[in-house]
Amino acid sequence: MNVFITGNSSGLGLGLTEALMDRDAIVWGMSRTGCALKPKFDDVLRDRQQDLGKLNTIEEGLDRLLSDCLRLDLVILNAGILGRIQEIAHTDVHDLEHMMRVNVWSNKVILDWLIERQLPVTQVVAISSGAAVNMSYGWGGYSLSKAALNNLVRLYAPEMPNTHLTAFAPGLVDTGMQDYLCEEVDSDEFPSTQKLKDARGTEDMPKPREAADRILDLLDTLRSDFDSGEFVDIRKM
Ligand SMILES: NC(=O)c1ccc[n+]([C@@H]2O[C@H](COP(=O)([O-])OP(=O)(O)OC[C@H]3O[C@@H](n4cnc5c(N)ncnc54)[C@H](OP(=O)(O)O)[C@@H]3O)[C@@H](O)[C@H]2O)c1
Repeated sequence: MNVFITGNSSGLGLGLTEALMDRDAIVWGMSRTGCALKPKFDDVLRDRQQDLGKLNTIEEGLDRLLSDCLRLDLVILNAGILGRIQEIAHTDVHDLEHMMRVNVWSNKVILDWLIERQLPVTQVVAISSGAAVNMSYGWGGYSLSKAALNNLVRLYAPEMPNTHLTAFAPGLVDTGMQDYLCEEVDSDEFPSTQKLKDARGTEDMPKPREAADRILDLLDTLRSDFDSGEFVDIRKM
């Protein structure tokens, strides 16, 4: 299985990379830090340090990373940033622009590159969030970016007829994002974060590797039970 994944230096992307390699996949990854996993065999993990916020450099990065890749069974558009939880009126528009570059437009550049290079791709899973539809108080920039990501996936589905695309909310996962949400955000001011604090350490917020295995086990179901372009929340499957 050939897999390209973004944001695999930490959190869910790192868990997915580990789980994929345990399933004998060859993984091509992109993140700023790079993936520190040491694979059992040479060449099963190809890694490129890439800032996906720098849109003009992504195509060259893909050319270099995927130069010898002839087909991809799976593309996981996972890289994402949360930004600060704060009122949308107090959020700097330049910070919103940056978040949209990382969470949305980098994925457009990647999909365009795959189409342009005519690289056959069986399945694309773009990691979205319940925030894409909740629009909870304080989650403004992140919610906007994930809502846009859902619609980006819907728009690409008919333009990639040989690929099955899903915008996928993975549920709560115990990653660095949750460190910030659970430890630094005041839930009196932003009540939606209280349920995250309650879920931490319980089965409602699995560790990245466990979440990764759950997601990989659902890939066939995403293709068989849902239309290409749909937004699917793991908690509603
Ligand atoms: N954790 C949750 O409960 C949860 C829930 C719903 C959805 N999600 C989504 O799951 C995805 C993974 O998040 P996570 O929770 O695993 O958070 P995380 O541990 O912070 O991981 C984010 C990943 O994205 C990469 N990334 C961020 N900015 C980047 C940039 N400019 N260029 C390249 N890579 C960049 C990071 O790598 P570098 O820093 O090395 O660049 C890292 O590998 C995100 O899309 C997030 O929105 C998470």
